[in-house]
Parts: sequence; C-alpha cells; structure tokens
Amino acid sequence: MQIKRLQGGVLAVALLLSGYTAVAQNPAPKLGKSPMSAVIKAMTLEEKVQLVVGAGFNMPGMTSSGTGVGQTQDRVPGAAGTTHAIPRLGIPSLVTSDGPAGVRIDSVRKGNPGRTYYATAWPVATLLASSWDTTVVKNVGIAFGHEVKEYGIDVILAPALNIHRNPLGGRNFEYYSEDPLIAGRMTAAMVNGIESNGVGTSIKHFAANNQESNRNTVNTIVSERALREIYLKGFEIAVKQSQPWTVMSSYNKINGTYTSESADLLTTILRKDWGFKGFVMTDWFGGTNPVAQMKAGNNLLMPGTPAQSSKIIEAVKSGQLAENVLDGQVAGILNIILRSPSFTGYKNSDRPDLKKDAQVARTAATEGMVLLKNEDQALPVKQQVRNVALFGINGYDLIAGGTGSGDVNKAYKISLAQGLTNAGYTVDNEVRQTYTAYMADYSGKHPKKDFFKEFMNPTPPAPEYTLDKALAVQKASATDMAIIAIGRNAGEGRDRKVEDDYELTNTEKDMIKAVSDAYHAQHKKVVVVLNIGGVINVMPWRNSADAILLAWQPGLEGGNAMADVLSGKVTPSGKLATTFPASYNDVPSAKSFPGKEFPEQATTGMLGMKAIPAEVTYDEGIYVGYRYYNTFNVKPAYEFGYGLSYTTFSYSPVKLSASTFNGRLTATVTVTNTGKTAGKEVAELYLSAPKGKLDKPTEELKGFAKTRTLRPGESQTLSFVLTPEELASFDTATSSWVAASGKYTVKIGASSLDIKQMASFSLAKELIAGKVSRALVPQVPITELQRP
Ligand code: BGC
Repeated sequence: MQIKRLQGGVLAVALLLSGYTAVAQNPAPKLGKSPMSAVIKAMTLEEKVQLVVGAGFNMPGMTSSGTGVGQTQDRVPGAAGTTHAIPRLGIPSLVTSDGPAGVRIDSVRKGNPGRTYYATAWPVATLLASSWDTTVVKNVGIAFGHEVKEYGIDVILAPALNIHRNPLGGRNFEYYSEDPLIAGRMTAAMVNGIESNGVGTSIKHFAANNQESNRNTVNTIVSERALREIYLKGFEIAVKQSQPWTVMSSYNKINGTYTSESADLLTTILRKDWGFKGFVMTDWFGGTNPVAQMKAGNNLLMPGTPAQSSKIIEAVKSGQLAENVLDGQVAGILNIILRSPSFTGYKNSDRPDLKKDAQVARTAATEGMVLLKNEDQALPVKQQVRNVALFGINGYDLIAGGTGSGDVNKAYKISLAQGLTNAGYTVDNEVRQTYTAYMADYSGKHPKKDFFKEFMNPTPPAPEYTLDKALAVQKASATDMAIIAIGRNAGEGRDRKVEDDYELTNTEKDMIKAVSDAYHAQHKKVVVVLNIGGVINVMPWRNSADAILLAWQPGLEGGNAMADVLSGKVTPSGKLATTFPASYNDVPSAKSFPGKEFPEQATTGMLGMKAIPAEVTYDEGIYVGYRYYNTFNVKPAYEFGYGLSYTTFSYSPVKLSASTFNGRLTATVTVTNTGKTAGKEVAELYLSAPKGKLDKPTEELKGFAKTRTLRPGESQTLSFVLTPEELASFDTATSSWVAASGKYTVKIGASSLDIKQMASFSLAKELIAGKVSRALVPQVPITELQRP
C-alpha cells in the first residue's frame, strides 16, 4: 500500500510537470473516447484521405509501386490489404483478407520456421447452396469467422453472391446459385455466422459481376427489372437479413457507369432503398475515378494507390469535392473500425481449432453433394463390395476449391482415394499407381508458381490420363466396382470455355466408355463422381454410368465426405441450386455471353494488363436459369432443385392459412420418409402468379425448407410464409413492386419440375409491395426476351 501510494504520488508529480503543456495544447481526440465528429474534425485533409485510400498492395511477385507497401506484410502476411492507421487519433488499421472458401493468408512466415498458418478450405459456395440449408451454412460461418478472428483479420472478403448467369462464369464456384432467393438467404446465413464472432464480412461483388472476360472494363447493359429481381435481389435480402459490415463494389460498369462510381447503386439503392449501414470498399483497383467514387458513396478504395490519394486531395483543394462528402466516407469507415478486433485490441492466437473445423467442413460437404443418377440402386455401395478401382486423375488429386482469390492455403486435402481407404475400401493399387505416377510426372514438369505469376499465366490443369482399355478390362474382373472421378477447376480472371471444359474431353469420354463397357460386361457397377466447381455437359456420357454423384469442390475433407455419401454413412440430401442444361446452346445467355469487345480502344489497365473495352447486354431479362427453362419448356439434363436420395418421401396436401391473401399467408406440408433408409428432404415452394400487366415466369422459388433426418416412416411438417414481397414483381414504369390481383398457385415439390402438391389462394385487388427509387436506368434500349 505504502509503496503504491508513493508510486502514485511520483506519477502524479511527473504528469503534472511533463503533461502541463499537452493539456494546454488540447490533446487530440481519440476514436471511441471522443465524439466521432470531434475525431473527424481533428483530422487533417491528408489523414482523411489516408483513411479512404488503402495502404497499398503487396503480393509475392508484385507490389504496386510507391504505395505504403509493408503494412499488410507487417500485420498478417498474405492478407489482401489493410487500411492506414492514424495512431495520433487512436485509429488502428483494418486487416482484410480473402475469401469465400476460407481465410487466404500465407501458410508460412519469414522468421518463424516450423510454425504454420493454414486455414480450413470450406466447401465452395455452390456446394453450400446445394444443401438448401441455412443452418448448415450458418454453422460453417461460425467456424469460419472464428478462424478469421484468430488469424488477426478484421474483415473477410466474403461471401460472394453473384448470380450464375451462364455456366461458363469462371468464378461461379465462389457464388451460390442462379436464383436470388437462395443466394440472398445463404449469404445472410453466412454473414450472420461469421459476424457472430465480432469480425466483419464484405459481401461481393456488387453488382451484376457475372463474368470474368474483360471484368475490369465490361459495361453490363441490363434492365431495371432484371437488376431488381435477379441481380440485386440477393444483395437486398442479404443486407436486410444480416446487415454486413461492408459491401465490395464490383469491377464492371452497369448501364454505363462503374459500380464503384455509381451513386445510384451505392447511395440510392444500397443505402436509401435498403438501409445499409456499413461501408463500401472497391474491388482491388476497381474503377478509374477516385473523386467519383467518393461522391458515389464508395467509402474505401482498395488496395489503395498514391495516385488516388493525390487526386482526392487535389479535388478537395480545388472545390471539386466538398470536404463534407469526404467526411461522410470517413465516418462510414470509422463506425466499422470501432467494432473491429483491431480496435478493441483482441489478442488473436493464430491457432484456430483446425481439427474441429475440418469436421464442420466434412459435414457441410456431405449436405451439399447432389445425387444426380442412381439406377438400380447402384448407391450406396453394397456391403459385399470391398475392392474398388478408381479411375481419373482427380480421384487421386482432389480439387478442394477453385483458383485465384477464392483459393485457400490448407494443410492438406483428402483425395477420394484416401477417403475410400479411410472408409475401409481397398482401392486397387495398380490403377492407383498408374495415375499417381502420371500426376507426379506432370507436376514435375509444371512446378508451382507464385500467386501473381500463376494469376497472369495459369498452369493448364493436367489433361486426363489416356486410359488403356486393357487395364479397364483386367480390373473389371479383378475388382468389385469402378468409380470414375471427373474434375474441373476455374477461377478469377478467366471464364471457362465450351470445348474441353463445359464439354468433357475426348480422353475423358473414352475413359468413361472403356470403364463402363468393361464393368458392365461383368455386371458390375460404374459410379461417376463429379469434382467440379461449375456446370458441365452430362448428356453425351451419362447413360454409361449407373450412378452420378455431384460432389462439387468439397473443401479439404472432400474425399472423406465423398466416401461418407458413397458408402451410405450419409444419405445424400443436396439439390441443384443451378441448372444442368441439356446443351450449352439452351442456356438463355449463350448468345450474349461474354459480350462484344472493342479491341481498337484497348488501353493499359490494372496491374499493367491490357484493358479492352467491352459490353454485354442481358437480353434474356429476368429469364435466367430455371425461370427460362421452365417458362420456355426447354428440358434440362437436370433441373433446378433436383437431387435424389437413398430413400423416398411423400408430401401431404398443402394447407394454406387462408384462401384469400391478406398481407401474410402460411403454407404447410408434411413430408414423410416412405423408404427404408433415414434421410433428409428439401421441400421447395414455387409460386405461379395470375396473368397481369407484367410478364412473369411460369413459377418462381419463394421458399424452401429442409427436414431433419427422418427415420423410415417418420414425418415432419414444414411451413413457409408468403408476404407481399413474394407475390410482387418489379414494375419499371412506377419503380414499385406490384402483385397482380387474381389466383396464385402454391406448388410444393421436390424440384422445380417435380411438383408434389398444389393449392391456390386469391388476391382480391392489385397490391403495391413497396416503392423504390428510379435508378440505374439503361442508356440504350434493350430488347428483352418475353414469354411467348
Ligand atoms: C477479387 C476480389 C478479391 C480481391 C482481393 C480481386 O481481384 O475480384 O474478389 O477479394 O481481389 O484479393
């Protein structure tokens, strides 16, 4: 006590002497301690600009010249970018990192030998959406957000929710669905899960970023209605249901203006119409005019360049940019910084429980795998089957997730071969050695490049090994069953192509045929496992397979999860959240994707790459995915919402809470497991609207629910709520959501084409479900597809 008092006294005297001048000078306000307005008032113009322009770019193999490079590396090596700290005002820097499938940071650090910083590679978004289960997605989010926090990240650049407009979209694996209701609900679940840890998300890429071809220049010409109903709807749902900390604007233009420079998009729609409270950051080096970006409401320019800073400073000095506009952008960022782990001083461990998370990843992966075909109950693998021959290179080299910023540095990945072995099967050794030797040879010839070199000049995926038919014949007698793995990979910067990607290569088709002929001659089963991130053509070869399991890109535990489903340990319950068309030419955007280029106007763009102006017109309008196939009677290979199970389900008649719509209506249905195996069922609610002044698809998804695991004979009642929003379509003439009066049919089914029960209700008079701002008006006329 005595000593303490003495120390206190000495301290007080010292403070009195040394601090006297500081008090007299009025100490700078501190974020969180002083009112926000005082903090902003105390900032110099240069400090404000430091806050709205990120601290620079640093990536192995490239840096943006003259930026504040080093900050990122100092804090979390491999993170995508940071903001500047302003210590004088108590403002820490924020650390942002990719990406949608897991925390993407460097796995090893200089000066720290022996320590690793691996993260969980979660199943990709397309798989998660195929679970049709927001609880599964939220649970992934909770575990994911814990890794974000423990690795010292404030804002994860995820989830991504652009619409699968076309199967060739190079980043489709990072996105959820062709349908905005699924995309929006999955995003909200993921955001709520991640952010429950006290870290932030950045939902991206806002908006209409549906292709990688000319992604930094393309002008997307799209109607207000298609925007509101298809391309913005998922973002609207996500903002309203999860209020994410941040939104990332996209690279492309919408109707003539870069999204990051569009006040219509970032202020009028996002903030005014939807009530978004967080801040907006650009995609990396997105847009061209920093002053327009500030005016539009794009708070933060990432990763930030000195040129952007000078332009903003000049604009304020010359009066082109009002300082209070800049202050607004600063306040938006500071409000989020206040909530961040960097601000609250969280001491991250760098040691998340990766073992526990791997189990979450494995369970989620099994929930989103889709059984596409199962003739004569080829699956689950029969008890007597013990020896399996596994064909196809991706059986031995799992594609856990896609490439680019959506990739994750993971400690390991479980191949299908390993997963089958772990599950107790004997995987034929001779076949295994044939493939692993081929793969080893290929990787020897194509050594791993660093991220930037790989991004600029990607190593082509190993071509499928040319299988010797004689080996297939020999193995058909020696083993009990054949499994064939087909893999596809893609990622940011490039779209896929039809030949040898959307279509199988001849080598792949020949392999399937050779194996199928050989095994079927012995009356043995052939199962194809698709380890893919985007849709492929199944038509030319699907008859050769007894069963097809769509395993997507299932994350680091993929092989174990595949074996769980193949063996029957888990009954498949995933359904397609994106259509598998019968032919690429059937895709409604086949002709317009990826648009026109204007090479004569090419300039040098981001990272010194050639920037070719381009434009794409979404002339299919609202008829994207099943909205097109169902309305125009184009039969797909596997329709939206489709997926088989090892058991069967019946649906009771639908009960509606009322026969006339009066603001809210509940539909209930009881699903019963009528088969012999326990399983879960996804029930989908589609709504058909009466004919009104607006053209409408024959039906649209308005609700979905998944049962718990039902034992044979067990039932569960599922309910779905319909509000005016679900009934309405966007009326461009009045910028409002309008529901026509008349008879509405509720269709509940196991897929968009397999409707089990229907019931109808009526709406007595036209209903306005909401009025919004007129925004993003196309500058040129668009001739949109109409219902015949
Ligand atoms: C991608 C974003 C990513 C960012 C940071 C961009 O190239 O489009 O999705 O978050 O890089 O790595």
